[in-house]
Amino acid sequence: MKALILAGGTGSRLRPITYSMAKQLVPVANKPVIEFGIESILQAGVTEFGIIIGDTGEAVKAAVGDGSRWGIKITYIPQPAPLGLAHAVATARPFLGDDDFVMYLGDNIIKSSVRSLVEEFESLRPAATILLTPVNNPSQFGVAELEGSQVKRLEEKPKEPKSNLALVGVYLFDKRIHDVIAELKPSARGEYEITEAIQGLIDRQLPVRSTIVEGWWKDTGDVAAMLEANRLILEDMVGCVDGDIDAHSKLEGRITVGKGTTIVNSVVRGPVIIGDGCQIKDAYVGPFTAIADACVLEKSEIENSIVMADCTIKDAPSRIESSLIGRGASITRVDRRPSAMQLVLGDSSQVVLP
Ligand code: TTP
Repeated sequence: MKALILAGGTGSRLRPITYSMAKQLVPVANKPVIEFGIESILQAGVTEFGIIIGDTGEAVKAAVGDGSRWGIKITYIPQPAPLGLAHAVATARPFLGDDDFVMYLGDNIIKSSVRSLVEEFESLRPAATILLTPVNNPSQFGVAELEGSQVKRLEEKPKEPKSNLALVGVYLFDKRIHDVIAELKPSARGEYEITEAIQGLIDRQLPVRSTIVEGWWKDTGDVAAMLEANRLILEDMVGCVDGDIDAHSKLEGRITVGKGTTIVNSVVRGPVIIGDGCQIKDAYVGPFTAIADACVLEKSEIENSIVMADCTIKDAPSRIESSLIGRGASITRVDRRPSAMQLVLGDSSQVVLP
């Protein structure tokens, strides 16, 4: 069994963050999203990984490395253009050969490991196993119609969904998927769809099984989902305080503070993670906030947010919440006339004022 992680794509729903970084490298609870996927597959004993990369490939390579820190081997596979999930599989064919593989969308996080899924696949030997989760809004997902645990039909974003079971970004395949993909045509949106490829297996009377995901699953493709994933991971975090906390500060709940971080005259209410080398002064850090390394937070309040490395937030006039703040961003306040906002925003940035 090999692993194929998809870390190419366009990331249009996460702009402007994705103009300057891969969405799979956005930190959730201070860890790049893609690492959750690698670790979940690792628990199933898979050690040969292929990672599909696109325009942001060099950054993904630099951040993830050769896999030696997990004891795995990583092969990077450039996809010439983001032409769809099935196109990514076709691009990876030389790496995959005729082996079984688990395919994992690099911007997804599932809480459980994929171990039982891999074991079941290897003993029952279907052509594919898909992972499903119940959702409230099935029309926005790929939806499965089942007969027992066999998949009868898959529909991409159906107007009248036949079930509330949406496809989760983890799939297991054997080599038979390649024959179907070889015959696929691009969909109306111009992509080679993996749902159509799986439907092709069903149409050929080949067995496609399904498993309902245990625990939660999150596609971190947009800001709200990214923040929710951050909340879910922080919810389970075991705190560990390594920094320097002064006597005027109050830490409540589960909190992780990294090396060389100082917290002065501040209130931190967990679950919260603060990285290494940060300065938190006269500030409030509220629940479900992740602050990466080397940030300065002074005379400001923040909660339910992700702040990436090297940011400065000083004298913010009101509490910052539900925000995703990219690397090296600066939010400050000056007391001068005229009292006006001064913004330098990248394309597609969003500012919501109180
Ligand atoms: P998506 O989130 O479905 O697509 P996207 O990255 O293009 O995002 P958006 O819709 O916001 O523009 O992709 C799921 C995962 O698969 C993600 O990690 C990117 C990856 N991917 C590829 O590697 N190659 C591809 O051709 C596509 C479409 C996605």
